[in-house]
Amino acid sequence: MSHHDKDEIVIVSAVRTPFSRFDSAMADIASIDLAVIVMKEVIERVGVKPEELDEINYGSCVMAEMALETDIPVRQAALLAGWPPEILSVTLDRACCSSLTALRLGVRAIRAGEAEICMSVGSENMPRMPHLVPGLRKGVRLGHIRMLDGLFELGYGAKGFAPVAVDAGEVALEYGVTREMQDAWACQTQERYAQAFAAGKYKVGEEIVPVVIPRKKGEPLIIDRDEAPRRTTMEILSKLRTVYGSPTVTAGNAPPISAGSSAILFMTRQQAEAKGLKPLATILASIGTATKPRDIPVIPALTIREALKRTGLTIDRMDLIEINEAFAAMPLVSTKILADGDEAKWKALQEKTNVNGGAIAIGHPVGASAGRITMHLAYELQRRGGGYGVASICGGLAQGEAVILKV
Ligand SMILES: CC(C)(COP(=O)(O)OP(=O)(O)OC[C@H]1O[C@@H](n2cnc3c(N)ncnc32)[C@H](O)[C@@H]1OP(=O)(O)O)[C@@H](O)C(=O)NCCC(=O)NCCS
Repeated sequence: MSHHDKDEIVIVSAVRTPFSRFDSAMADIASIDLAVIVMKEVIERVGVKPEELDEINYGSCVMAEMALETDIPVRQAALLAGWPPEILSVTLDRACCSSLTALRLGVRAIRAGEAEICMSVGSENMPRMPHLVPGLRKGVRLGHIRMLDGLFELGYGAKGFAPVAVDAGEVALEYGVTREMQDAWACQTQERYAQAFAAGKYKVGEEIVPVVIPRKKGEPLIIDRDEAPRRTTMEILSKLRTVYGSPTVTAGNAPPISAGSSAILFMTRQQAEAKGLKPLATILASIGTATKPRDIPVIPALTIREALKRTGLTIDRMDLIEINEAFAAMPLVSTKILADGDEAKWKALQEKTNVNGGAIAIGHPVGASAGRITMHLAYELQRRGGGYGVASICGGLAQGEAVILKV
């Protein structure tokens, strides 16, 4: 490591809301308000005051949802939290990479000596996204009104790009990752989540902060666990129809459309020590990448390789791997590439990837997911008594983000 110990950057607190189902009570809560919950919790847990924050970077990429509250969701969230108006904040969109990009920009600010204590946030409420009616402002002279659903196909079709599910499915097949393998991965991720949940690994007070929804009558509704996980079988999964014109992707091997928020608080080790805070993990590398838009399931592998290069570590040194399940294709294709064509190594890498389940079970509120996999990696390394781990995520049109943690 080129940096002296005391200059190291450590995560001291990390929290997320439960991730929702499509038809959830959370679907009515603005992503800004979901963010306020995690932003407050992540500092209050460790006794850091808002005025101590130098920078908040906030990822969110379902623009039409936040457009219901105009824009600058992070600025609004920080003010709604009752925090000092002087805190610097930025909202950014790097598709599903966004909340790790938010972390990376904070890491960069700390390294540049421009900040000491930073927060990264990811917040999204996909089910709340409204339909869009373009052209209405000019009026309709004659004929039908066209209404669009930007959630449908989750692609960039308006500009001629393919739906992500199509690219993911086609490229997976080119890598010899079949529909059956993708269904088997989905089945396993549901099973792993169920086991981890039963073992108390998704508990309130650690990764999870509950969402409390007041009701007109009676007690408030408390959402304190992920809503989407479900048990399933290969037989059921194999019968589901493919979606969005993809050759392999179905509702079973894709993540559900979700609402949720995540937040991570990080600082120099020196600051953490001065405050008497116990680090959750040390950030060894945090990088961003991009490649050909169609190569979406490949990019986590490329990004992990690049991040490993920065640290001089190899993939074999990683005790745990998180690769976001944008679809089952992503962890499968990327671990296959990282295994360099070695079948046994591919299996071994799969064993340590998403050990407690992934987005297919949990849900994927796109801007918030990168923060979730990062904190889950840190908490699971903690439970195992330490080690190295890498978390990586792909984002729209083949962008990548990865972070390497040491506990
Ligand atoms: C895949 C997708 C279109 C499915 O949407 P949907 O049709 O509303 O999903 P549903 O939950 O209703 O599932 C459809 C069917 O599959 C079944 N199903 C879904 N998951 C299942 C599972 N794990 N096991 C068994 N059955 C399952 C449902 O029961 C439902 O069956 P029904 O029609 O008989 O009721 C939607 O979740 C989606 O777009 N996901 C991808 C999100 C995405 O692209 N994220 C970004 C990646 S970069």
